[in-house]
Amino acid sequence: MKNVGEMTVGEVAKRAGVAVSTLHFYETKGLITSWRNAGNQRRYDRSVLRRVSIIRVAQQAGLPLSEIKAHLDTLPNKAISIAEWRELSREWRDMLTERIDNLTKLRDQMDGCIGCGCLSLRDCPLRNPDDILAKEGAGPHFLPIDDQL
Ligand code: FES
Repeated sequence: MKNVGEMTVGEVAKRAGVAVSTLHFYETKGLITSWRNAGNQRRYDRSVLRRVSIIRVAQQAGLPLSEIKAHLDTLPNKAISIAEWRELSREWRDMLTERIDNLTKLRDQMDGCIGCGCLSLRDCPLRNPDDILAKEGAGPHFLPIDDQL
């Protein structure tokens, strides 16, 4: 038995164009929620369709699930309005632009490395981006290793 506005996991999967296992995965990551009816069957609110669509778009744009969740968690309701989606897409567009700019810069810096192989702390723009070692004065330096990059 299903109430109006409720969807089964199979219905959501079919309408959203994702596998049932994907929905379960999103749920374990806290991106979507469901509840159990009296017969212990999983039910979703119809608004989950928009939410899943947004998650898919964000994933295609290269955003990690943790980042997607952080953004979705800022919204007051599980049902995402058109205005909220507009705002989210604007933020994600800006993030994408920044990533593209950084990758373009990295690619351009890499041009000088092709056929080189020195990986010099002093001369290689990949090892010493923006010549940050020059700001630390003369003499030997070590670059900090950032595991987040
Ligand atoms: S490897 Fe030589 S400049 Fe980057």
